[in-house]
Amino acid sequence: MNPVGPSVVILGTGAYAPERILTNEELSRLVDTNDEWIVSRSGIRERHIAAPDEATSDLAAKAGLAALADAHLTPADIDLLIIATCTPDAPLPSTATLAQHKLGLGACACLDLAAACSGFLYSLEVADAMLRSGRYRRALVIGAEKLTSLTDYQDRSTCILFGDGAGAVVLGVDPRPGIGIIGTKLYADGSSSDLIKVTSGGSRSPSTAETVARREHFIQMRGKEVFKLAVTAMQDAAVELLEKNGVAPDQVKLLISHQANQRIIDAIAQRMKLPSERVFMNLERYGNTSAASIPIALDEARRAGRIVAGDYVLLVAFGAGLTWASALIRWV
Ligand code: COA
Repeated sequence: MNPVGPSVVILGTGAYAPERILTNEELSRLVDTNDEWIVSRSGIRERHIAAPDEATSDLAAKAGLAALADAHLTPADIDLLIIATCTPDAPLPSTATLAQHKLGLGACACLDLAAACSGFLYSLEVADAMLRSGRYRRALVIGAEKLTSLTDYQDRSTCILFGDGAGAVVLGVDPRPGIGIIGTKLYADGSSSDLIKVTSGGSRSPSTAETVARREHFIQMRGKEVFKLAVTAMQDAAVELLEKNGVAPDQVKLLISHQANQRIIDAIAQRMKLPSERVFMNLERYGNTSAASIPIALDEARRAGRIVAGDYVLLVAFGAGLTWASALIRWV
């Protein structure tokens, strides 16, 4: 915990999910699967999917505007924009600069951050440090993904999982100590990078007709192995952060985990002895939206009244890289 302040606090939250909903029933007409299997193995019932002419920066801008409105701030108040995404509009320019324009921000610092499903928590730590440095006043941090652009609708083991969306927070500095972002911890292990990957379309294997024909521009995942590692890593990251900050698990009002699989979240909650009312879940309606999942969940939980001033909120994420992370927030 930062004992003397100032603190970096969340001033507003916002989210956006595309209109079109893809149900398990529709997926069962595309691949050999069924609603019962998808719900029992993942907890997912439906997911939002972006329109063909909607890109990640469009989703990000809508979530960002909602967060600004919630914070009662205007674009002129923001001097740092970070967008966590693994589905940028294009390799160049950054999605942050494209969203900056759509948001009507001034000539502020704009950057994309790539840490897959942990990207929002990585961005939170980066923004926290930049604001604490005194060189920035207010940051807009957005997790935004059009994951369906990387989804192989011929692969039943992955296409059932992913959805599109964006979530955003506005961060500002508060002179009071010990509130807002209490602590964050980031981890990575590149030796397991093979477990979740997109093989082609980058500098290692640029796009060719052959790579496209081999469907190498889609996400490939070794789900069972990822599952086991995700449970242990997120639980360890959560416990380590709580211990470091002298907060007991039963003081946590709400655990918001990356929304990848209901069984993963249930396992973490069980190991931490958290009752279900202290665990947030909305993956049944969104699927896995990678870097967008935690800020979408945070926005929903807050608007539903499940987080109020003074509450400890624990965030945990895990994804490709491998990357994983935790963050502890004292809500204001
Ligand atoms: N419908 C029906 N059967 C399916 C299926 C589908 N959509 N997808 C896979 N199967 C089959 C498999 O082919 C396999 O059949 P087999 O035993 O005959 O080989 C069987 O179901 C079990 O597959 P498996 O992959 O072992 O299932 P699982 O219980 O591990 O569940 C996931 C699969 C993807 C839901 C799960 O592994 C998961 O959520 N992993 C973690 C994802 C994650 O956390 N990602 C975080 C970062 S993005």
